[in-house]
Amino acid sequence: MKIYDYPTLYDVLFSDSCKDEIEFLKTALQHYCNISGHGRIFEPACGTGRLLWRLAQSGHKIVGLDLNPKAVAFCNKRLRRHGLAESALLGDMTRFSLNDLKQKKPFDLAFNFVSSFLHLTSEQTALSHLHAVADILKPNGIYLLGLHLLPQGNAVCSQEQWSVRHGSLALQSRLSRLSLNRQQRIETVEFRIKAVTPKQRYEIIDTFPLRTYSLRQFQHLLKKVNQFDILETFDFNFQYPVLPNPQTEDAVFVLKKTL
Ligand SMILES: C[S@@+](CC[C@H](N)C(=O)[O-])C[C@H]1O[C@@H](n2cnc3c(N)ncnc32)[C@H](O)[C@@H]1O
Repeated sequence: MKIYDYPTLYDVLFSDSCKDEIEFLKTALQHYCNISGHGRIFEPACGTGRLLWRLAQSGHKIVGLDLNPKAVAFCNKRLRRHGLAESALLGDMTRFSLNDLKQKKPFDLAFNFVSSFLHLTSEQTALSHLHAVADILKPNGIYLLGLHLLPQGNAVCSQEQWSVRHGSLALQSRLSRLSLNRQQRIETVEFRIKAVTPKQRYEIIDTFPLRTYSLRQFQHLLKKVNQFDILETFDFNFQYPVLPNPQTEDAVFVLKKTL
């Protein structure tokens, strides 16, 4: 996915939601893990680590993992710039252990927002990811997993656009669904980012597949994993727990490790 080869743009594009996400992470650590001090936090598919460095700055022990070398380098460079340990590692979120993450102690909490989980386009890779996360969490550890669900029927949101400005850099992005195969559970999406600075103007266009989940399909997957319970579900505003139903599109599941 070449869109992730532009960590600076990606980081700015997703900067607006950081404050709410950090607030939610800290509340979750306190509420579900009973930790009011510093926790041990892991982010699979951490990308630029836009949340990790903020957590590290507040004193939490953090580790990130991502498949994209440019994102990992960006993440570590920022951690270093802030005098923090370089704790992002290059690796696949379907195959990792505490040993691979250079850790002896398990984590209190893991999180994966903005639908990165949907990049795992087969049941086998999704299962293997969830087992790997369960294995690096301590008993009763929490996995906060955010994803776009595919609601029943035709009333499905197929395009999302947003704009962000950071200093002299202006970004416009559009995420569109190009095709949807409900039987194979694959949607193909196009991600466009238009960047404008005083000196240049360019556009990045990427197309990639994502796996689709209805609420039932996600619940079914969790049953197969047999290592997590859904404690609560939030929408992307993180304000109150919601009761997900077959029409729910935005879901952040609070998964508690059971075994
Ligand atoms: C939408 S970005 C999310 C980044 C970050 N979690 C955030 O909230 O900004 C998705 C990330 O998933 C990573 N990714 C995709 N497949 C992966 C895999 N199999 N293992 C590890 N990372 C993966 C990409 O490189 C990209 O950085």
